[in-house]
Amino acid sequence: MKQIYLDYNATSPVRPEVLEVMLPFFKEHFGNPSSVHWAGRAVAGAIEKAREQVADLINASPAEIVFVSCGSEGDNMAIKGTLAALKGKGNHIITTTVEHPAVLDTCKALEKDGYDVTYLPVDKDGQLDLADLEAAITDKTVLISVMWANNETGNIYPIEEIGKIAKKHNIRFHTDAVQSVGKVPVDVQKANLDLLVISGHKIGAPKGVGAIYIRRGTRMTPLLHGGHQERNRRAGTQNVAGIVGLGKACELAGVEREEYYKRVRALRDRLEDGISDQVPDIKLNGTPDRDQRLPNTLNVSFAYIEGESLLLNLDMFGIAASSGSACTSGSLEPSHVMGAMCVEVTLAHSSTRFSLGHETTVADVDKVLEVLPATVQRIRDMSPLYNCGKTTDECETCETVRRI
Ligand SMILES: Cc1ncc(COP(=O)(O)O)c(C=O)c1O
Repeated sequence: MKQIYLDYNATSPVRPEVLEVMLPFFKEHFGNPSSVHWAGRAVAGAIEKAREQVADLINASPAEIVFVSCGSEGDNMAIKGTLAALKGKGNHIITTTVEHPAVLDTCKALEKDGYDVTYLPVDKDGQLDLADLEAAITDKTVLISVMWANNETGNIYPIEEIGKIAKKHNIRFHTDAVQSVGKVPVDVQKANLDLLVISGHKIGAPKGVGAIYIRRGTRMTPLLHGGHQERNRRAGTQNVAGIVGLGKACELAGVEREEYYKRVRALRDRLEDGISDQVPDIKLNGTPDRDQRLPNTLNVSFAYIEGESLLLNLDMFGIAASSGSACTSGSLEPSHVMGAMCVEVTLAHSSTRFSLGHETTVADVDKVLEVLPATVQRIRDMSPLYNCGKTTDECETCETVRRI
């Protein structure tokens, strides 16, 4: 049975070109980049090359890139490091209700330490109202943290507009760009960003490496203390092979992004149209404006069924998708993103994310379209909710369902 992987927002396979450039750093280029001798020098040079590759992709300069272990570390560092550095200037952060836990839980932890956090609401399509942002700003606000694109719905947020607001009020601006780098154009200058976070494993580099862009001159207290690596911004001997891989993945993303966008978007649209045509009683989660969503992401609720049971049934056909984000699956709580969008609770439980990537083919999409409608119907036939016997107008659950 051919395996079909449609969970690229959870993680992506390491690309062959990336693996190839990494391998020497497990063998002959084993030196510690901080060592002054030949073994260290060769490795230090490779890290600097990767720094340039990452910087080029987001229109930053290499000195503004710091390598970290993952997106979660980058988000923690951006938020906690900024607040520690700006202690005395203010204690108010503005973020959104739909952030990844790497941001949300960091903010919740900071609340326990006495910081004030405003969590901006979203509408039923998961969109922000920038008037809410303007209204939330006080003279104590020191940081705005809004994700570039949402990992569950794929919604892209108006980062350039938010950047203008942050600049007008002289507030530090951070974005979690873990899902958007490599998928849509990301330019830290245009967006007036001070801090931006990237994760390797979402873009064909390995797990265990990420990067944070820190605008030149931005004060930041390190999370990790120890050695002088990364210009004293992040202690710890670098993950050299991972960093080299991340650099290569960023280089590839820069060269291929437009082609990637067109190809993956066409596949996602084919899947979206096919599901919409063939499966009744579904709800799209996210903005219906496909231009305002990541090209690879589709999140749909299938009324009357549990997302988990759909995933297990699709898995029997070799199809890997996801319900909620990988970090929250395993919990019975519906996703906080669906909650923030006020998705009716049974629909939230049935939300299913298909996220496509470099290796996805037309045949993969068509296989899903062949298997999914009958699978949904089979599970529905077993569900007492489905056979409620009322018309759509009479039933509260049915009423909340709308077609894509
Ligand atoms: C939007 C977003 N931010 C942060 C992260 C965390 O990244 P990492 O897995 O590299 O810690 C993820 C991972 O799913 C994500 O989707």
